[in-house]
Amino acid sequence: MIGDDQHLVLVGLMGSGKSTVARVVAERLGRPLVDSDAVIEERTGRTVREIFLADGEPAFRELETAALLDALADPRPSVIAAAGGAVLAECNRQALRSSTARVVWLCADPATLLERVRGASHRPLLDDDAEAGLRTMSERREPLYREVADAIVLVDGRSVSEVVEAVLR
Ligand code: S3P
Repeated sequence: MIGDDQHLVLVGLMGSGKSTVARVVAERLGRPLVDSDAVIEERTGRTVREIFLADGEPAFRELETAALLDALADPRPSVIAAAGGAVLAECNRQALRSSTARVVWLCADPATLLERVRGASHRPLLDDDAEAGLRTMSERREPLYREVADAIVLVDGRSVSEVVEAVLR
């Protein structure tokens, strides 16, 4: 169970359902929801896509790190949906490991992810070949999600409410 003073952080690849599940879990727990992509868009007044295209991925990653570290440092226990690439930076993984937050990895097969990412505009990394992109990301990032996760929830073939219940457990 999650302590009253602990953040709950959802990590996982694009399309694993972090934002949707985090919204429902936040409602259930009566906690604020922090979605790192939304924080970045609010702070900059630009979309994730615009930032990637105009400033490049490294600039986006810096904003992502700031959003994650600020969310973890906030004393109000929240539900944090950390965007898929948030585990790439060692300093982010270190912060996730050393914080008292409980980190849940929503783990999905690339085939499941591919079905779910169609049409989402905030994912410029999947513009060229979404299938290949997801496979490569999955291979590269799986050890990183594993490194920070306190618990793993498999999402393949499960509904949002089934995943929510598993996360809450
Ligand atoms: C990214 C995931 C996206 C968004 C950006 C990059 C990634 O967020 O931050 O397109 O590198 O995995 P979601 O995981 O919320 O889709």
